[in-house]
Amino acid sequence: MEQKTYIMIKPDAVARGLIAPILQRFEDTGLGIERLELGTLTREQAEENYREHEGKPFYPGLIDYITAGPVVKMVLTGPDSVMVCRKLMGATNPRDAAPGTIRGDYGLIVDANVVHGSDSAESAKREIAIFFGD
Ligand code: RTP
Ligand code: MG
Repeated sequence: MEQKTYIMIKPDAVARGLIAPILQRFEDTGLGIERLELGTLTREQAEENYREHEGKPFYPGLIDYITAGPVVKMVLTGPDSVMVCRKLMGATNPRDAAPGTIRGDYGLIVDANVVHGSDSAESAKREIAIFFGD
């Protein structure tokens, strides 16, 4: 099914100079890049994006971390793009992420896990609206 997904290269990865190799992983899937932008999230955008986690113990740290520096925001499009990207990213905790996945290869701790990807087509729609306003 043709669909869009919202992907973000998180501040830790941008700060470590990993934009190019991570972008390469996404391009290698064959999915199309529809939007691509470097920028720092506002607190409001971060809270809106992660509102499902509000109240959890890791939430304040998550908001601080995701707004700490520039991220790469993008919209990828193509067949089953949500699932394709989630598989490519690997498990949330890099410790559990398989080698060959982005988090498995570049991540070390769950608090700074390199990339974000929408978890459903509905989430993708919501997140694209937050970050690109359409
Ligand atoms: P994301 O939304 O960032 O793509 O990550 P995800 O779907 O794989 O994981 P999710 O459950 O949505 O969690 C969002 C982010 O919160 C941080 N987290 N920390 N310390 C913890 O136990 C914990 N659990 C989650 C992670 O940085 C995760 O990416
Ligand atoms: Mg999530």
